[in-house]
Amino acid sequence: MSIFDVVPITADDHRRRARRRLPRFLFDYIDGAANDELTLRDNAGDLQRLRLKQRVMRDVSAVSTECELLGFRAQSPLVLAPVGMTGMYARRGEVQAARAANTQQVPFTLSTMSICSLEEVQAATRGPFWFQLYMLRDREFIQRLLERARAAGCTTLAFTVDLPIPGMRLRDYRNGMLGGGLPGTLSKLAQLATSPAWAWDVGIKGKPHNFGNLAEKIPDPDDLDLYKAFIDSQFDPSCTWDDIRWLRDQWQGKLLVKGIMEADDARAAVDAGADAVLVSNHGARQLDSVASTIAKLPGVVDAVGEQVEVYLDGGVRSGIDVVKALCLGARGVFLGRAWVYALASKGQGGVEQLLALMQKEMATAMALMGVNRLSELTPALLDGGNGGEQ
Ligand code: GLV
Repeated sequence: MSIFDVVPITADDHRRRARRRLPRFLFDYIDGAANDELTLRDNAGDLQRLRLKQRVMRDVSAVSTECELLGFRAQSPLVLAPVGMTGMYARRGEVQAARAANTQQVPFTLSTMSICSLEEVQAATRGPFWFQLYMLRDREFIQRLLERARAAGCTTLAFTVDLPIPGMRLRDYRNGMLGGGLPGTLSKLAQLATSPAWAWDVGIKGKPHNFGNLAEKIPDPDDLDLYKAFIDSQFDPSCTWDDIRWLRDQWQGKLLVKGIMEADDARAAVDAGADAVLVSNHGARQLDSVASTIAKLPGVVDAVGEQVEVYLDGGVRSGIDVVKALCLGARGVFLGRAWVYALASKGQGGVEQLLALMQKEMATAMALMGVNRLSELTPALLDGGNGGEQ
């Protein structure tokens, strides 16, 4: 954005505003990825490099982006992905984002690691939302969380399988986000001092900042070291598909397995009872140098696309990106960083505006590609894609 621009429009505009507004360690936590961030670049870059076909004279007077996503009747094939701690990015951030998803009629997914609890989000929103969970060592606590999610009306459980241990996000090491002793604390204080608007709006007026769903497990709201200690002690690296079968028995709603990249893993997820898989490399925050999600999507669609819904996340910043993912067989697309940038930049209104913009970008692209319905988006509409002329 330049000083002459009146409002932020794209995810990238919101990103620049978020960078100015947030303390550095919070901006880096959302903006950064693992190690050298090579996969971060590929997720977005591989999507951007795909080319669409322009088709003409096909009566596109009835373009619609409406769809059903795991039984949720949505205005467009977008889902707000679970992102931890978004209540630190705007005041009661998860509530603001869930409300934005309500008004734009797309699903919102609440992270286990949210600031606002399941109950707070439920009380503040209309309609169902989705819940994300990691496998924690304390299985009784999982059962309690599932019970709470059920009671809050969550219809889909997104179960994350690609985080047996946290990836190495080097920005978080550098800036003191993850402890760093006294120098880390001093650095964070300095970063807070240069973000006065955020400090007042979110830091002071946005309290409490504890992890709402885990309040009984992480008692001190302001201690990020305790959060790290919780992850280290609770995330269960011994997890296998048997645990997903166990989970399947505990959860009667829809089950989406999040973090699938390989066809064999997709088949295993379906065998374990998944209703959907999400092709995801955790926004490039886990294994750096793994392939981009868009490169892996066709293999997963080939393997399980007939049996379950296949979703994608990673690198999606525009409605055009969404159209490309749908051409390659995705049912819908999860947005992560894009919505958090918008939330940090402009709160609920920013997320609403971004979702509306992306919907319009999709509808416009579809009309210019000669299709009216999402189901007409196929590989044949990618330039150089297979399927030949339509
Ligand atoms: C947690 O899921 C993270 O990516 O930080």
